[in-house]
Amino acid sequence: VAGVIDPTFLPDSAVVSNDDVTVGGVSLTALADEFGTPLFVYDEATLRARCREAVAAFDDVAFASKSFLCGAMARLVVEEGMRIDVATEGELDLVLRSGVDASCVVLHGNNKSDAELARAIEVGVHRIVIDNFDEIDRLERLVDGSRPIDCLVRVVPGVEAHTHEFVRTGQEDTKFGLSISRGDADAALARLNALEGIRVRGIHAHVGSQIFELGAFDATIEVLARLVATHHLEEVCVGGGLGVAYVTGESAPTITEWGRAVREAAARRLPPHVRVSAEPGRSIVARAALTLYRVGARKQVYARTYLAVDGGMSDNPRPVLYGSGYEAFMVAAPRAERGGIFRIVGKHCESGDVLIDAAELPGDVAVGDLIATPVTGAYGYSMASNYNRVTRPAVVFVGDGAARLVLRRETLDDLARLEV
Ligand SMILES: Cc1ncc(COP(=O)(O)O)c(C=O)c1O
Repeated sequence: VAGVIDPTFLPDSAVVSNDDVTVGGVSLTALADEFGTPLFVYDEATLRARCREAVAAFDDVAFASKSFLCGAMARLVVEEGMRIDVATEGELDLVLRSGVDASCVVLHGNNKSDAELARAIEVGVHRIVIDNFDEIDRLERLVDGSRPIDCLVRVVPGVEAHTHEFVRTGQEDTKFGLSISRGDADAALARLNALEGIRVRGIHAHVGSQIFELGAFDATIEVLARLVATHHLEEVCVGGGLGVAYVTGESAPTITEWGRAVREAAARRLPPHVRVSAEPGRSIVARAALTLYRVGARKQVYARTYLAVDGGMSDNPRPVLYGSGYEAFMVAAPRAERGGIFRIVGKHCESGDVLIDAAELPGDVAVGDLIATPVTGAYGYSMASNYNRVTRPAVVFVGDGAARLVLRRETLDDLARLEV
């Protein structure tokens, strides 16, 4: 039927019936009743399948924890054979508290503090990804020969990837990494190679996000190959950035296709001993989750119908930040033709608090109905805020017919805990 929600936006284990959707064998209606709304529901089967796909696709692969992190997630990705990329001490701390070994951690950051670097060195992370000359100064002060640290150098290859295209830019304007074209990358590598206590394993380049055009990775490896040869490097990390389809009409390469494209480029351009690694975030978690909201108000304003839900820009800031689109469906009528067009808004005191500008839903959606936005597993919870002192939603993992709460809903006491 025209307008029915496309199941390819749903997690792998989703089963659609006439009056409900189950994920991991658990009814979404029952989940909302038990845990309340808004609620993030992650399908463990999808998470694990994407992790396995990534492990098979690359020589080494780290999950970009900025896309979604909690203790259960950190343990899950490591169980599946991935490492974890962290960008701050906060992410590092949570990962270590979750019981993950430091040897699974890759530390990023364009402004790592002395404390962050010292902690990473003390616990013995797998890689520190060096961003700039000031960081090299800091590392020089912090390392001693007794405990060598393994590093990658983040470089700027002059390739910028956007959703459907990539461009080669001679002049890179970014806060991340060291420029190849201006000689900074060579200078950093030469300096680091002469330093006692620092072992440079390779280079790293992250060229964009929501990339649908795999040619961007070939162009990147082409540029990196010169540095690999000059400095006798053994590892190239292509970062993350693989796109996912959020709305009808989009389609993205799979992780397997991405890995194949990267490997083919590496085989063409790099010596065979070079290990090729990656750090996907969005492509691992985005489609694994959906968010459940309850409709609290329906309002007609001229030709437009507004539906106000019990969350908004605090649990999903992507529409406001990036103008990102999402699909939506009514949980109790997932097969119904979505004949109505609604502007789905949140509950924040902000007119820009729009989740979906023109969502297709059954025309009779009403106050009290449960609606779901699929593909919300990446950069939703991890970017969530307490704007308007709204408490952050709970997060459940579902699988094998059971739900487990992995992050409880925030309470008003949680919000008050910083008051002195
Ligand atoms: C260095 C680095 N690696 C990996 C990622 C993950 O990217 P994505 O979630 O698009 O796969 C990012 C995202 O910003 C990043 O900056």
